[in-house]
Amino acid sequence: MSFLDPQDWSFPVPIAYGPGRLADIGALCLSVGTKAPLIVTDKGSADLPYIAELQSLLQGAGMASGLYTGISPNPRDDEIAAGRAAYHAGDHDGIIAIGGGSGMDGGKAIALVAHNAHDLWAFEYEQTPPTGHPPFPPLITIPTTAGTGAETESTAMITDTVRLMKWCIWHPDLKPSLAILDPRITVGLPAHLTAWTGVDAMVHAIEAYCVPGFHPLCDGMALEGLRLVAKWLPVAVAEPDNLEARGAMLAGSCLAGIAFLKGLGLVHAVSHMVGAEFDTQHGLTNAVLLPAALDHNAPAIADKIAPMAQAMGLTEPTYTAFHAKICALLDDVGIPKTLGEIGVPTDCAPRIAKKAIQDSAAGTNPRPLTVPDIQAVIERALTTGR
Ligand SMILES: [Fe+2]
Repeated sequence: MSFLDPQDWSFPVPIAYGPGRLADIGALCLSVGTKAPLIVTDKGSADLPYIAELQSLLQGAGMASGLYTGISPNPRDDEIAAGRAAYHAGDHDGIIAIGGGSGMDGGKAIALVAHNAHDLWAFEYEQTPPTGHPPFPPLITIPTTAGTGAETESTAMITDTVRLMKWCIWHPDLKPSLAILDPRITVGLPAHLTAWTGVDAMVHAIEAYCVPGFHPLCDGMALEGLRLVAKWLPVAVAEPDNLEARGAMLAGSCLAGIAFLKGLGLVHAVSHMVGAEFDTQHGLTNAVLLPAALDHNAPAIADKIAPMAQAMGLTEPTYTAFHAKICALLDDVGIPKTLGEIGVPTDCAPRIAKKAIQDSAAGTNPRPLTVPDIQAVIERALTTGR
């Protein structure tokens, strides 16, 4: 067995893995109970060939699909409302959420409100979830990048257009009915997006592993996800057509995505708020923040370093070697050194820090956070970076 072979996995949701698995979409839709799915994707993916291919495959299977492409890189609540209207206008009975993190998050958010009249923000993560609603529609997730790991779970990060903050929404009863991991889809991803999304997966693995608490399942997945990403991300960036590297990255990002059921940390807490305010690419923002955040957390993660260093192929299990390896990998895949270089204004640190401490990821950071702590990390990332 290798990353070139088709495989079916059953954990934590049914997963159809393998190069070319998109061609099974008709039978897979029927297996989860949809005959008229609405395809939801992001604006940037709308014209990519696999969207047209997906429509053609569904048509060939005799299905009346629709297409909603109104999702931004940082999905907004008004776009979810428009997607819900498209779901009803087309008389759909299921959702195929395809794209990077934004496309899949958009599809998941539309699934949350498609069959009920609740306000989207009734599903905010830290509130008691609404009850007494009809079942959620069948939901198929198809990642087109190896990074977000959003394909196996139901949470979505959505920007509140009133508060200008990004919030996690979910419901415990909404799980993807099926995820399709087809490495062939990710082959066309440009090198810079391969790098940005791949580093997001690496940050998921590291932040999840460093969340305090006893969770051997998530920890095991985090370390294997980190091992796969550290080994294969530079290969996928340098050799975009390498299907084995693309497959290993999809598996690694999926594992890291499952791992962060345990929680995330400082990097994501800040990145969510920077993204909501300045529309920066999520993985890129994380990548730039990672070295400064690791240094802040170093005193609280001493016992986590040796396993992570080993997963990354290091023989020296020290924090210094681990941090240097992270920075070398970021350099290797072309990540800029500062937030300033990606368009974040230099005076935003106090405001972003006050927002970031309210993010759920701040609550699971290994070192308890204060607003001045977060502000200092942002200021370093804005100016000197790594
Ligand atoms: Fe992320």
